[in-house]
Order: sequence, then structure tokens, then C-alpha cells
Amino acid sequence: MGQTVFIPRELDANEPRVAASPDTVKRLAALGFDVVVEAGAGTRSRIPDEEFSKAGATIGKASDVVKADVVLKVRRPGDAELKSYKPGTAVIAIMDPYGNDAAVAALAKAGVTAFSMEFMPRITRAQSMDVLSSQANLAGYQAVIDGASEYDRALPMMMTAAGTVPAAKVFIMGVGVAGLQAIATARRLGAVVTATDVRPAAKEQVASLGAKFLAVEDEEFKAAETAGGYAKEMSKEYQAKQAALTSEHIAKQDIVITTALIPGRPAPKLVSAAMVASMKPGSGLVDLAVERGG
Ligand code: NAI
Repeated sequence: MGQTVFIPRELDANEPRVAASPDTVKRLAALGFDVVVEAGAGTRSRIPDEEFSKAGATIGKASDVVKADVVLKVRRPGDAELKSYKPGTAVIAIMDPYGNDAAVAALAKAGVTAFSMEFMPRITRAQSMDVLSSQANLAGYQAVIDGASEYDRALPMMMTAAGTVPAAKVFIMGVGVAGLQAIATARRLGAVVTATDVRPAAKEQVASLGAKFLAVEDEEFKAAETAGGYAKEMSKEYQAKQAALTSEHIAKQDIVITTALIPGRPAPKLVSAAMVASMKPGSGLVDLAVERGG
């Protein structure tokens, strides 16, 4: 008998995703796994149970997790879920381990083998498994769409017979994967886009997308990128210079999108309450780093 892969329904009320699609179920079944999908697991991703059964899965109940050798999840399982996992189960999910020591200890206590998808090397060969990139890409797009819908006015310059509405000004803070997609999306919608980052490599990327780069480009900036391509946590002095540069700019923006993250550390706080207060009526801020305290 093949090993059993179980795909539960996500319990987090704000989590509409599911860890498998009919396509991946088909591939798992072809590899000889018995695939069990909890009833309703795909509903919020608009995948009805029938699609999963057509792909070769059995539709089961939450309690079927006891039979699982492998559990595929979007988010790390909580205590209530872990109670029904048998020791030795391999759990593959976005574990969000940093700063969540108690939750990681609970996984160890339950005796499961946890795979944290965030730790997948971000190399070409593993690109199809790079959850950070795929999700950041979509989040960057969605941040602009959400910001534009709240903004309530046009993003492109609109010329009418009665007069001209200027293009909206969008400022992207942090231009990794999410920020680059946010720039591209805001540009496609016709906004005037500026962006900032602490990694020098970002400067050229911002320009190539047709946005203007704004940053404190001192000696610390020149050394801010780690060998792994990530940003370092900046010094207090740099943060103060950065705040001085951006505070005046933020006051003139219609939409500000913050995406800045530092692996394993809390997100840098780039926008102070005073900066928010300086923004124009009707302008808005979308914080993609909020889960990491951004
Ligand atoms: P991230 O999600 O860790 O951070 C987002 C952005 O915030 C980064 O650009 C970072 O420099 C910036 N940031 C951090 N502190 C800041 C501060 N104080 N002020 C302003 N900005 C700040 O980064 P992400 O999206 O994971 O990308 C990191 C790097 O990895 C990028 O160079 C990206 O191009 C690269 N990458 C390479 C891949 C590949 O080669 N397959 C795949 C994915 C990313």
C-alpha cells in the first residue's frame, strides 16, 4: 500500500489557500501516494471537492489525518491540529518559524518531522518550490490593487474636456520580489512610481521598471546586501537618515506600500505615526510586512 498524503482544510479564518491543487494531486497519485483531501479544503480557493476526486484523491474528514504519513498544509498546524497527528508524520508547510519558538517546540513535542518551505534554497533548480517568491510576487500585485481600490481616485493621469486629473503618486518601500511586482503593477496602472531600498542592486532594478529610486546612498548602503542577497538590519544612524529623507516624500504620496523585510528579524519600521499623519486626506498605506511587525 502506498503512503498516505493528507491535505487538510486550513483553519485560519484569513487563509483562503489550500496546499494542493487538482494538478498536484494528480501528480502525487501518479507517484503512488494515496491522496486524501479534507472535504471543503479547496472551497475558498474555488476548487470544489469533485475536482480533487476527479484528480484521484479521496475526500475525507479532518480526523483522517491520523492515517497520514505526509501532511501538506499552507500554514503551520496549531496545537489543536497537532493532537491528531501521529508521531513521525512529515508536515510540509509555511512554518513561519522565526520568533515563534513556542509553536516550533510544539511541533517537536508532537514528534512530527516539520519541513519549513521558507528554507527551500532560492536557487534556479528549486524555483518551482520557492514559496517566498511566488507568494511575494502575487502579494506585490495585490497590494497595488487593494491600495488603488481604497484610494478611490484614478491612478493614471486622466484628461477630460473639463480638466486634467494628475496621475497618482505611489511609493514602494522595499524592492525585493514583492516590491518589484508592486512597481510594475502601479506603473501599468499609470501611476507615478518611486521606490526605496537599502540594497544597491535594487537601484538599477527600480530604474529598469521605469520608477525613480530614492535612498540614502552612503557607505553603509554600499555594504547593505548580504552574500545571500538579503538586506542587513541597518544602524540607528542610517535609519534616522532614511527617515529624514523619506518623511518629506511620504507627505506627498497618494499610496505608500511597505514590503521591507529582514530574514529572521522583525521587519524594519519605516513609516512613523508622524509620517502617516502628514499624508494627504484620501491617501493610503498598504503594509505587506505587517505579519513581521512592519
Ligand atoms: P525580503 O522579502 O527579505 O525583503 C524585501 C525587501 O526589503 C528587500 O529588497 C530588502 O532589501 C528590503 N529592505 C530591508 N530592509 C530595508 C530597509 N530598512 N529599508 C528599505 N528596504 C529594506 O526580500 P526578497 O523579496 O525575498 O528578495 C531578496 C533578494 O533575493 C532580492 O535580491 C531578490 O531579487 C533575490 N531573490 C533571488 C531569487 C533567485 O535568484 N531565484 C529568488 C527570490 C529572490
